[in-house]
Amino acid sequence: MLSKSQAKIFFLGGTVVTFAIFLALSWTSLSHEVPKRTHEENLSQQVIKGKVLWEKNNCMGCHTIMGEGAYYAPELTKVYDRRGEGFINAVLTSKIPWQPRGRQMVAYGFSKEDAANLTAFFKWIGETDLNGFPAKPDLKK
Ligand code: HEC
Repeated sequence: MLSKSQAKIFFLGGTVVTFAIFLALSWTSLSHEVPKRTHEENLSQQVIKGKVLWEKNNCMGCHTIMGEGAYYAPELTKVYDRRGEGFINAVLTSKIPWQPRGRQMVAYGFSKEDAANLTAFFKWIGETDLNGFPAKPDLKK
């Protein structure tokens, strides 16, 4: 059995040690892991503009990216790999609502430049290391 003062030292020591470990891990994540996994060096002005367009137009009202958003329309983290530049461009510049399977997307009719910015954003996000997310669907052969 610990005495009261020993318990106090044990509690304070444990708190200090685990907090120091927490700070060290946070520091390595923020200064090493995140820049490496996101390929921070590829964050061009075009990618940043694409992200701003993504936010401003509420794409997450229907889509998810990195698993976040709404489930009305497809997950877009890997859309660049899945569909390629031409296809994405066609969706984004379309003047009529995109609806290959009945559910409609907003007809944004983006300019070529804005579509290229969003495509650059999708390419960048598709290259981030997400530990295998999103998983490939386990489809029956
Ligand atoms: C009102 C809901 C809605 C909003 C808002 C929306 N989308 Fe869509 N989006 C859809 C639907 C529905 C589809 C087609 C789904 C299908 O293939 O059946 C789609 C398809 C796409 C595709 C092709 C995906 C694929 O795998 O075929 C891309 C790329 C895309 N949207 C990008 C965007 C971007 C960028 C924004 C914001 C500027 C946006 N969407 C906003 C509903 C929406």
